Amino acid sequence: MNPVYKSGFSIANYHNVSDIYRQIEGLISQPIRPIHREEMEAYLQNFEKKYASSKPVIEQAMQYIPGGVQHNLAFNYPFPIVFDRAEGAYLYDKDGNRHIDFLQAGGPTVLGSNYPAVKEKILHLIEHTGPSTGLFHEYELKIARFICEHMPGVDMFRMLGSGTEACMAAIRVARLATGKKNIIKMGGGYHGWSDSLVYALRIPGTAGFDAHGIPRASRKYTQEAFPNDIKSLERRLRRNKLTGKGTAAVIVEPMGTESGTRPVDFEHNRQIRELCDRYGALLIFDEVVTAFRIGISGAQGYFGVKPDLTVFGKVVAGGYPAAGGLGGSRDLMEYLAAGLQTGKKRAMVGGTMAANPLSSAAGYYTLMEIKKQGACEKAGAAGDRLTQGLQKMISSMDLPFVAYNQGSICHLETTGTMFLPINMKKFWTIPKTLKEIKIRKHMMEEMGAAYMMEGIVTLAGSRMYTSMADTDEVIDEALEGFERVFKKMI
Ligand SMILES: Cc1ncc(COP(=O)(O)O)c(C=O)c1O
Repeated sequence: MNPVYKSGFSIANYHNVSDIYRQIEGLISQPIRPIHREEMEAYLQNFEKKYASSKPVIEQAMQYIPGGVQHNLAFNYPFPIVFDRAEGAYLYDKDGNRHIDFLQAGGPTVLGSNYPAVKEKILHLIEHTGPSTGLFHEYELKIARFICEHMPGVDMFRMLGSGTEACMAAIRVARLATGKKNIIKMGGGYHGWSDSLVYALRIPGTAGFDAHGIPRASRKYTQEAFPNDIKSLERRLRRNKLTGKGTAAVIVEPMGTESGTRPVDFEHNRQIRELCDRYGALLIFDEVVTAFRIGISGAQGYFGVKPDLTVFGKVVAGGYPAAGGLGGSRDLMEYLAAGLQTGKKRAMVGGTMAANPLSSAAGYYTLMEIKKQGACEKAGAAGDRLTQGLQKMISSMDLPFVAYNQGSICHLETTGTMFLPINMKKFWTIPKTLKEIKIRKHMMEEMGAAYMMEGIVTLAGSRMYTSMADTDEVIDEALEGFERVFKKMI
């Protein structure tokens, strides 16, 4: 069932989920269709020239930084680019090339980069207080109150240093509150890199496949259900009940794993809520991406489903450092009270830089501005324009691609898609699948490089976040860039 239009949200029309999965099935069954070799070679040659000043810096960085860059999202092919200016919809590199920014620092900048009204407040704060004191600053109250007033499932809010930390805190509180240990996540989902949550990453069904350097014991109580498959979740919950061990929590990204890359039916979250209630498990919404991007009341406001605990990150500090937090009902959040309370069990959390004045103020003013400017709706309209433009081109050029979006979160899956299933039970098929994944991953790296050459920064060539700064002109310019790339594939 599709919802009626709700104002104030990034999503105007909820997509048809079965149609998207059907199209993606079609992609998986096809051989890859990359950019024509000679055209790609030309891009790569020109890449060297266009980004001539970046290359020597990265070569030096390779000596001092593992892999040459500090941030997972900065691993661009054929080499990372040094960016030194960000403004509104654009990013500028060391050679002065202008790019349309659909990476958005991984999602936090719904207002566009370096939004002036927030920057001014931060500059004033730096002059007056500096970035941190370790003591209480009134901005902590301001941001907590704002979040509690706008997020349906949040009566109290604890600010932390990152989404990873906030996910750790969420499962700790859930285990303390329920007395159970098992945590169920959706296969393929990312909830940060803590020992117990590096489990079934990217590809559903892969369990501890990626958990290198993590003792088996750390993920003993982590389980996975399949994305958008309510029956697989119920099977897990039932099994946990029958063994007498129960389930502490189900943690999900409400738009679907990996920022909605694997989308969910509109009713899916409500069904999860019902199952959690029936089996006595807490429901944790990981809204690291969706909170204040889908709407000021998050995906929970959009779907009308109240989780027990909500994880925050990214937009909660408006693109400034130390972005994380946990919210929930008063009884649960009191497990996180600061200071030692003799005789009362509490979930230990901390962080020298957690809720520093800079992050608190940046988050507070960002949220105020998002609300005041209607930024979620504007960013969502830009995402719709981008996706519809891509869909039109895909259809007119008859390309084996799928474009879909949840407002300002846009996905462009090609034959380089990572939707390949790995069958862990048929272990003899794994090497062949891994080889296939490597080939597809390389195609995506090339796609990312081609978009970059056309002045568009994407997330791994397959995801684009739009912001309020993306006017119709910006989106149309981006579509022209995509078109130039697509023409090299027909
Ligand atoms: C859904 C989700 N949860 C958790 C995290 C981890 O957040 P952080 O990178 O702030 O640790 C991310 C990061 O991308 C995320 O997308």
